[in-house]
Amino acid sequence: MIYFGCDYYPEQWSQWLAEGEARWETDAALMAEAGFNTVRLAEFAWGLLEPAQGQFDFGWLDRAIDVLGRHGLKIVLCTPTPAPPPWLLAAHPEIMQVDAYGRHLGPGTRREACANQPAYRERSRIIVEKIAARYADNPHVIGWQTDNEFGCHDTARCHCEICTDRFHHWLQERHGDLELLNQNWGTAFWGEFYLDWNQIPTPNASAAERNPSHILDFYRFSSDTWRAYHNEQIAILRRLCPNHFVTHNLMFFFPDLDAYDLSENLDFASWDNYHFHGATPALVAAAHDHIWGVMERNFWVMEQQAGQINWSVYNPLPEPNFVRLKTYQGIGHGADGIIYFRWRQALGGSEQYHSGVLDYAGRKTQSYAEIAQIGQELKELAPKLEGTVPSAEVAILLDFDSRWVLQNQPHNSLLRMDHANDFTLENPAVRMDREDEPDERYMTGRAWIAWPYLAAYIALWEANVPAAIVAPNTDLSRYKIVCAPFLNLLRPDVVENLRRFVKNGGTLILGPRAGVKDQDNKLFPIPQPGPLADLAGTTVRYMDSLAPERRNELRWSRAVTRMGRQSPIGLWAEILEPEEGTQVIATYTEGWYSGKAGITYKFHEEGGKVIYVGCMGGPMLYHALFGWLLPEHGIYALMPSMPGVEICARVHQDGRRILFLLNHTSKTQYLSLSAPTTDILSGEQFDRSIILQPGEVRVIEEKNR
Ligand code: GAL
Repeated sequence: MIYFGCDYYPEQWSQWLAEGEARWETDAALMAEAGFNTVRLAEFAWGLLEPAQGQFDFGWLDRAIDVLGRHGLKIVLCTPTPAPPPWLLAAHPEIMQVDAYGRHLGPGTRREACANQPAYRERSRIIVEKIAARYADNPHVIGWQTDNEFGCHDTARCHCEICTDRFHHWLQERHGDLELLNQNWGTAFWGEFYLDWNQIPTPNASAAERNPSHILDFYRFSSDTWRAYHNEQIAILRRLCPNHFVTHNLMFFFPDLDAYDLSENLDFASWDNYHFHGATPALVAAAHDHIWGVMERNFWVMEQQAGQINWSVYNPLPEPNFVRLKTYQGIGHGADGIIYFRWRQALGGSEQYHSGVLDYAGRKTQSYAEIAQIGQELKELAPKLEGTVPSAEVAILLDFDSRWVLQNQPHNSLLRMDHANDFTLENPAVRMDREDEPDERYMTGRAWIAWPYLAAYIALWEANVPAAIVAPNTDLSRYKIVCAPFLNLLRPDVVENLRRFVKNGGTLILGPRAGVKDQDNKLFPIPQPGPLADLAGTTVRYMDSLAPERRNELRWSRAVTRMGRQSPIGLWAEILEPEEGTQVIATYTEGWYSGKAGITYKFHEEGGKVIYVGCMGGPMLYHALFGWLLPEHGIYALMPSMPGVEICARVHQDGRRILFLLNHTSKTQYLSLSAPTTDILSGEQFDRSIILQPGEVRVIEEKNR
C-alpha cells in the first residue's frame, strides 16, 4: 500500500480556533475526502504531553487519535524529544548546546538540547517510555517517527563540558592510548603533542586551522552521539511496541550526521522533501535515491512540501501540478509513504508563512485539489506497485567520512560540498558547464557545482538510466558499474570492498580526489590513490586547484568517442601517471600539462576494470564516459526522452517495470512508444507516442519484458 496523508497538529487548532477540538472532526473529514489514509502527530508536543515534570496529559492526544481513527486514518506517532519543554530547560539550563565560541543556545524553540546531557537523556527516556506504553495497543497507531530531523538548525555538534568529557572517552576507545592518538593525529606538527586526555579540546573556535584528524574525530564522535541517543529511543519503542514500525525523517543530503549509522536500527528511512531555491529535479531525484540507499529499501517522504515554504531565499508559489509532479517523483523513486507538510498553514508560532494543504483561513488550496486527485489515482496505482522497488545497475558511493574531510579541506572553496544556496550567489563556477540552461526549472548543469559528487548521477538522470546512491562498504555485487567520486578518505574495509568488486568483474570509476587520506585523515605516505593505486593502475603526480575562470578541456581518446570529442573541466585537475598496461583515455588540452593524462583505464585480465577520473567535470564529461561504457555493460535508458522529462521505474521481482514519466519542463512533450500503452493514472490510451503537458505525470506498465 502507499501511505498517503499529512502532518497534523491538533493541539494547535484546538488552541487557535474558537471552536476548539470540534475543528478536528472537520479536518479529519476533509483528510478522508482527499483520500488520505495516514496522519503523523506530536513530534513537537512534549510540552503539552508533560506540561510539568512527571505530570502527563495524554487526554487530548487520545481524543485526536480517536477522531482521526474514526475517519479511517492510521496514525504515525512521534517521540516528541526535539522540543524539550520550558520546565525542563528552566530546571536544567545546562542541557542547552554550547557552540564553538562557548555560547549557550537560548531556550524556547526546538533542537536546542545536547544529546549527551544527563538530564535531557533521562527525561527523553521517560517521555518516550510513557508515550510508547500509552499507544502500544492503540488500534489506529501503526508506527513511530523518532524525534524530528536530528541535527537540523546546525545542532549536530556541541561543545559543552559533558561533550568534551565524552569526547575524551570516545577518543580513548578509538585510539587505545594517548601515544597512539598522538601518532594517528600526527601531533608532531605545531608541537600539539598531548600528555593527558584532558588536554584535548573539542575543536572549538581557534586562532589557526585545527588539525584535520582532530576535526574528523570530533565529527565522528558527534555523529555517534546522536546515533546512541537515537538507538536508545528505538530500543524503548521495540520493547514496548513490538508490532509498530520505527522510522526517522532525514533531510536533503544532510551532511553533519552519518545517515547510514543513524538509521541502522530503523525499519525504513524517511526524509523531508522541500524544494528550496536550487533544488532541481535531478537533485531531488538524487535525494530520493540517497534515502533509498541509506537502507537499500523503499522509504517514506515524511514531509512533502505542499505549497510555499518560509525559509528559502525566495519562496515562490509553486505552479499548478507541482505537488502532483513531486509526489509521483517520490513514489517513482521508491517512496511507499507520502505525507504532506503541513495540513493547515499555522496562525501562530515561527512558521506562519509556511503554507499547508489548507491555507490559514482553512480554505482548500490548489494543492488540496491535486492531492485529492492523487488520492483517487492511488486507488488504481497503489495495488500495482505492491512489491515493486527501484532497481539500478549503476551505483554512486556516498561516504560521510569523505564528505567531512572535504568540507574541512576542500582545497578549492568552490568544492566545499553541499552549498545549498550557492545558486543565489553570483558564483562564477555555476556558469562553467552548460552556460545556457534552457529551462531554469531543471538547471542540471548548475546543480553539480553545489553537489560535485553528483555530476555522474546527474548525467545518468539526464539519460534516464537509474542509479543507486549507497555506502561504500555495502554489498556491491548487484551493480555492474560503481562510481566513487571524491572518495577522499579510504578506510581498510572500503579498500577491501572495492577490491572485491573489481575482482568479481565490476567496473569501478574512481576519483577525482580518491585515496588521499588514511582513516585518521592524514595523507597516505604513498602516491594517490594510495592503497588502490595498483587496482587503478595509475597514480596522481600533481593536483591543480583551479579558479573558476581557468578552464581546461579533456580530449577523449578514440577508444571512447570515435570523433575525439572534448569535454570541459574545471576547479580540479589531477595529472596522472599511468603504469604500463594502463590506457590513457583522456588528456588535458590547456596549460603546461596539456597532453598529460586526465583519465585512465585499467583492464584486469582476471576481473573488472578501473577508470580513474582525475578531474572535476560536470554531466557533460560523464555523458561522454557513459556513452562509451553503458552499452558495453548492457545498460540502457528506461526510455529516451527530451531534456527535463524524467523517466524512473519501480520493478517487480520478475523484472516487469512500471514507468513514471515526469515532465519537469514548461513545454508540452512527446515520447515515442514502442507499443500502445495506457496511462494508469488517467486511463488514457496512447498508440505511438504519449503526450505530457507541462508538469504532467503519466505512469505506464511496460509490456513484453
Ligand atoms: C522541516 C521540519 C518541520 C518544519 C519544516 C518547514 O525541516 O521538520 O517541522 O519546520 O521544515 O519547512
